[in-house]
Amino acid sequence: ELTVFGGESESGRDAGVTVSDLAQEYDTPAYILDEDDFRERCRTWRAAFADADVYYASKAFCSKAVLRIAAEEGLRVDVCSGGELAVALAAGVEPDFIALHGNNKSVAELRQALTVGVGRVVVDSLVEIDRLAELAADLGVRARVMVRVNVGVEAHTHEYIATAHEDQKFGFSLSGGDAYQAAQKVMSKTSLTLLGLHSHIGSQIFETAAFEVSAARLVKLQTQLQTDFDVTLPELDLGGGFGMAYTSQDAPMNPAEISASFATIMRRECAEAGIEAPRLSIEPGRSLIGPSMFTLYRVGTVKPVTLSGGASRLYVSVDGGLSDNIRPALYDAPYSATVANRSSAARPVLARVVGKHCEAGDILVKDEFLPADVAPGDLLAVPGTGAYCRSMASNYNHVARPPVISVSNGASRPIVARETVDDLLRLDVG
Ligand code: LLP
Repeated sequence: ELTVFGGESESGRDAGVTVSDLAQEYDTPAYILDEDDFRERCRTWRAAFADADVYYASKAFCSKAVLRIAAEEGLRVDVCSGGELAVALAAGVEPDFIALHGNNKSVAELRQALTVGVGRVVVDSLVEIDRLAELAADLGVRARVMVRVNVGVEAHTHEYIATAHEDQKFGFSLSGGDAYQAAQKVMSKTSLTLLGLHSHIGSQIFETAAFEVSAARLVKLQTQLQTDFDVTLPELDLGGGFGMAYTSQDAPMNPAEISASFATIMRRECAEAGIEAPRLSIEPGRSLIGPSMFTLYRVGTVKPVTLSGGASRLYVSVDGGLSDNIRPALYDAPYSATVANRSSAARPVLARVVGKHCEAGDILVKDEFLPADVAPGDLLAVPGTGAYCRSMASNYNHVARPPVISVSNGASRPIVARETVDDLLRLDVG
């Protein structure tokens, strides 16, 4: 049996928690968080970006325990809804260290953000600038604002998660002067303070090139604004989007490498423009939490399917599916799976890991080799499910969402409880 956490004791025997222990205690499916790994990742990013601010993008995964750890490790938090803001506040995150995002924040969300005093609001439309200015004036506060710029860079990533090409909903475009105009509008409001420019160019990016183009374009706009309005914009945010490894083919950049590249480009561009370099911030989500979790499923049925031509594929059905991980169905995202409760000497066979939902596209791992003797009752682990899995989970087919179990130092505890059908029925008030 595989030990998942805790390493070995002096006698060389496993001293950690086993997946069977976890399945027995918490049932399956469950997301399992390696808390120490996440903490270590926070430290690594924090250390690599010692001269910058690192905002954990809580949309990747948002819970009090995780935001508390991020905050303890010196990270700030990016929220994009009143719900995420409420969790951050409940986790005790300093409001000043919270950034509020969104292309359609409600008036209530903006008001709440201003009332608690979040550190920055990233504005995304002219309508919103007016709205925010008015709310701030009413509340008698000055709101600190970043202007989200669509820098027109299309990062090398899946089409649906590239956010900085021209014809899409986020940010103010550079072409046509939209971003300039937005910044000017913010500066014209006495209840707003313009901190600087922001961009986010996509997700699951493996090269710094696109970020460098983005940084150069932002510095150019910043220089124009500083010259034309005789102001200094103290901050600049390059967003998140740093890739993580889902398969052995993915080669993520390390934070130190990213930081060095950003420092170089900022130094060069600012020197050329003759401006003082603004303080940098970034917003990684996936690269922080993604690798720190796996999903533990139990195999329910195993069915060999004969394909035309005589080949065969083993369909392995688990007790979850697209309701706990929509990413393969939505983005064709690759994952892997391993039998986690035992080792097997059986020959590997071509398999597909599927869920229990009434939908043929309910696939968790499209092509995987699993031991031929994989059987009902086995536990299957799918690694790398920390980001955008629990946070995008649904109740399709009235399946209740799995819990998140945190393991640290050989001890486990739930940090998000298992949802039950009673929870779902409680909301069904008809
Ligand atoms: N900052 C902003 C403004 C963002 O919009 C995002 C992600 C991030 C930071 C964090 O990006 P990360 O470092 O996690 O890539 N559901 C998709 C990903 C959507 C990302 C949306 N914005 C997925 O499952 O791949």
